[in-house]
Amino acid sequence: MKKFFIKTYGCQMNVNDSEIVSSILVKAGFERVGKMDSADIILFNSCSVREHAEERVRGRITQEGSRKNSSNFPIIGLLGCVAQRNGNSLLQEIDALDFTLGTDQYRKLPDIINKVINNKDEYGFDQQNSSEIYEDIKPLRNTSVNAFVTIMRGCDNFCTYCIVPYVRGRERSRSIDKILTEVRRAGQNGYKDVTLLGQNVNSYNYKDYDFASLLKKAASIDTIRRLRFITSHPKDISGEVIATMAEEDRICESIHLPLQSASNKILKKMNRKYNYEKYFDIISELRTAIPDIAITTDVMVGFPGETEADFLETYNALKNIKFDYSFTFKYSPRPGTKAVEYSDQIPENIRLDRLQKLIDLQTVITEQKYQDLVGIQTTVYVEQVSRKDSKELSGRTRDNKIAVFPGKKELIGSFVEIKVTDAVGWTLRGKQIK
Ligand code: SAH
Ligand code: SF4
Ligand code: F3S
Repeated sequence: MKKFFIKTYGCQMNVNDSEIVSSILVKAGFERVGKMDSADIILFNSCSVREHAEERVRGRITQEGSRKNSSNFPIIGLLGCVAQRNGNSLLQEIDALDFTLGTDQYRKLPDIINKVINNKDEYGFDQQNSSEIYEDIKPLRNTSVNAFVTIMRGCDNFCTYCIVPYVRGRERSRSIDKILTEVRRAGQNGYKDVTLLGQNVNSYNYKDYDFASLLKKAASIDTIRRLRFITSHPKDISGEVIATMAEEDRICESIHLPLQSASNKILKKMNRKYNYEKYFDIISELRTAIPDIAITTDVMVGFPGETEADFLETYNALKNIKFDYSFTFKYSPRPGTKAVEYSDQIPENIRLDRLQKLIDLQTVITEQKYQDLVGIQTTVYVEQVSRKDSKELSGRTRDNKIAVFPGKKELIGSFVEIKVTDAVGWTLRGKQIK
């Protein structure tokens, strides 16, 4: 039986896709292994969102390719967004690569691997299939505690910097019954913390159901204890979604709401379809409805045309809003997107300088947010033995913060009350309350 290993880059959609790929391969008679070194087939599920992400996967393929034996093992395949964007040309460029397969083509995987094994030929499939949603496939999950459930694929928003709509195709929503069944079953199988996934979950649309109605139904499933969702787009999040979050006990007090920029001029150029005032109103509404909610965001600096004054607006927004955490990025030009053609690109040194300023600011805010929690009592869903200390366990709070405390591994998968005794960097430390 041939063994495969998948290395996943990029967002949670890719993590869930790797679980779908694993399911397809195991069903076809392959065996999943946990180490790259022991695999006959190495699959890279790639991300194309920034140039750096693409470079990393190319480098890694070449590196692993140097281990190929005279029978061409390990076989190396490229999946995901880089394969979708430029799969066939990469086959010519990278010697070690045996095949590439785009995001809608994973059902072909067993067939292609067998062909490569038998003919040692190269294959590339990067057509889009706008109806593929992998509806009937039960993901073979990576962990035993947290489940991702994809509710929709693709994106129709075409933010002018973003490659995702080109590599993931048009937006399509899964059937509500299939989603609810998958959530229920995940809970029955011990996954008590479920995250609903989509590039813009707030535009979920299936027959008469919108995202608020899906959320309400999913939150009433009693086999799970915690429900989360990513990612929300500020232009689409509705009052009903916020009200549902406030009403339903299982929905966690946490949201990821990408701001990107606080300059209305830049937001318009990005095609984000909201202004800063609207964004700020949503934050106020969330905090009024759910007082202890943790809010995280994505912010980008150095988008074409961003002046020092535009940047200052973003800087001051972070200072005012005080996010629990911000994922900060410097704009990376992506071939094929609209923004790459803008003439007012910002020099790399300025982009880097602005990025550093945001990171420094957010570090202080995040540390303070964590310090504020010292002394509280909170419930941790125990996920794993701590990587740093085998006598400690690590898990997450409802507001999505990592917490560690001394304990035995038998507690993995259970909910434990702790008292927070300290905050070190971005980790809460605590003691179990007897
Ligand atoms: N669907 C999600 C975003 C997915 S990409 C949403 O709309 O929020 C994750 C983040 O990567 C984005 O929020 C953005 O901040 C960042 N990103 C996307 N394209 C980028 C680019 N070309 N350069 C730098 N950062 C980018
Ligand atoms: Fe990209 Fe915008 Fe779609 Fe998010 S909403 S995936 S940033 S195009
Ligand atoms: Fe990256 Fe593709 Fe996700 S480009 S962010 S892995 S949808």
